[in-house]
Amino acid sequence: MTKYILAIDQGTTSSRAIVFDAERRIAGVGQREFTQHFPQDGWVEHDPEEIWESVVWSVKTALGEAGIGAGDVAGIGITNQRETAIIWDRATGKAIHNAIVWQDRRTAGYCAELKRDGHEEMVTRKTGLLLDPYFSGTKVKWLLDHVEGARAKAEAGELAFGTVDAFLIWRLTGGKVHATDATNAGRTLLFEIGANRWDEELLALFNVPAAILPEVKDCADDFGVTEEFGAAIPILGVAGDQHAATIGQACFEPGMVKSTYGTGCFALLNTGKDMVRSDNRLLTTIAYRLDGETVYALEGAIFIAGAAVQWIRDGLKLVKHASETGPLAESADPSQNVYMVPAFVGLGAPWWDAEARGAIYGLTRNSGPAEIAKAALEAVCYQTRDLLTAMRKDWKTESGDTVLRVDGGMVASDWTMQFLADVLDAPVDRPVILETTALGAAWLAGMKAGIWPPMAEFAESWARDRRFEPEMADEVRARKVKGWDEAVRRTLSA
Ligand code: G3P
Repeated sequence: MTKYILAIDQGTTSSRAIVFDAERRIAGVGQREFTQHFPQDGWVEHDPEEIWESVVWSVKTALGEAGIGAGDVAGIGITNQRETAIIWDRATGKAIHNAIVWQDRRTAGYCAELKRDGHEEMVTRKTGLLLDPYFSGTKVKWLLDHVEGARAKAEAGELAFGTVDAFLIWRLTGGKVHATDATNAGRTLLFEIGANRWDEELLALFNVPAAILPEVKDCADDFGVTEEFGAAIPILGVAGDQHAATIGQACFEPGMVKSTYGTGCFALLNTGKDMVRSDNRLLTTIAYRLDGETVYALEGAIFIAGAAVQWIRDGLKLVKHASETGPLAESADPSQNVYMVPAFVGLGAPWWDAEARGAIYGLTRNSGPAEIAKAALEAVCYQTRDLLTAMRKDWKTESGDTVLRVDGGMVASDWTMQFLADVLDAPVDRPVILETTALGAAWLAGMKAGIWPPMAEFAESWARDRRFEPEMADEVRARKVKGWDEAVRRTLSA
C-alpha cells in the first residue's frame, strides 16, 4: 500500500518539499532558495521557471532522502505563497511575464485612485480584503495592461491566470487542470467569499476577463494527477500557506489563533462559520473550505518578518546564518532603545500604508550589529502585538484569554518567543512540529486519500513543545510599547 504523503510548500524565498510517512513523521526534505528580483523601488518579482525548477528539484530531493519512489506516494498537498500573480499561455505553458509577488507595490497609485473613487466599501464587503496592492487583482490588471497583446489574448481565452498553486497544478498535470482552491481564490480581490464564486462586479472593476480564471475547488479535492516524478500521483490538497498553517496548528475551533513567521508574519483567528467584519483594518478571509463548508478567519498580515532577518544577513551582512540573529540580539546592550520599523515594502495591518518605507530610530555611538538585530526581532513581536490588539477588539476577548500558537523559522529562537509573550502579555505556545504549513497541506491530501485521520483525531495529535509565559513588568512593557508606537507614527507616510 502506498503510505507516504508529499507536501509541496512553495514560499516567497524558497520552495520546499516534505515527505511524511504513515505516522506523520518527516521522512525526507528538499529545499531550494530562488532569486528575488527587485526591478524598481517597491517592485518584487519571481521567475516562474525558476519557481518550477526549484519545486521539481525539491520534490526529487525529498523523495531521494526518504528513499522512496513516486509510486510510494498516495497524494500530494500543495501550499503556497498567496496573492502572487502569474499569467501564462495555455498553448505553451510559459508565463507571459515574471510573477508579480504579493509584496510588490507597483499598483499603489491605482489602488489609491480606486479608493478615492469610493470603491473600497464594495470590495471589502465582497472579498473581506482592502484596496491594497498586496492582493492579486490589481497585479493581474497591470499584467494585462502592460504586456503587449496580453489583453486581447486573455479575452480570446488563450491565457490563464493563477496564484502559484494554480501554476504548479497546471505544470504538474501537463496543462490538463486549471484549478485553485477557495483560500487562494479568496486573496485575489476577484472572489466573493460569502457566495464562494468569482464575482462579475469585481471582474468588471479590475477589468479582468473571466476566461483567464481557474476553477475553484475545496481544499481537499481532486486536483488532477501528476506523472512528473516517474509514477502517477494524485494532487489531493491545496491551501494558501497561512491557511495550511492554520490547519497544521489544528486551529479548528472558533477563537483559536495562530501566527506564522516566514518571510512575513500572518496571524489568523478562526471565527467559525461567521464572516466577522473588522472595525480595525484586519482582513476577513476563508480559513479553509472542506466538503463545501466554509470556515472563516480574521487575519492580520505583516509584510516583513523573516525578511528583516534575511536583510540583516544578506543586506547588512551582520551574520552568516539567519540562526545567529537570536544570539546576536541577546547580546545587545539592554539600556539602548533602538527601534526598527521594517516597512521595506510599506506597512500591512493594521496600518495599510503602501508608501511607508523602513526606518531605524534611537541609534547612538554605542549602537552596533547586536542592537540592530535585537530591534529587528523585537519589531516582529511589536507588530504581532498590534495585530492581536486589533483582533481582541474585533473578536471581543479579554486581554490574556488568547493563547497564540506560533510556527515558522523565527520561533526556534527562545529569546524571541519570550519577548513575544512579554509584549503580548499573553502565553505563546510553540508546537513540537514546526513544519505546520507543510503538515497542514499534507493533512488535506492524506485525509482525502483516506490514510490520515479525520479532523478531530488530527487535532488531538497536536503537541506543545513549550509554553512561553509573559514575565515582563507592566511598566516596562508600557514604556517599550510606547516607544514602538512612536516609531511607527514617525514612519507612516501621511
Ligand atoms: O500572503 C503572503 C504569504 O502567503 C507569504 O507567506 O510564508 O512566504 O511569508 P510566506
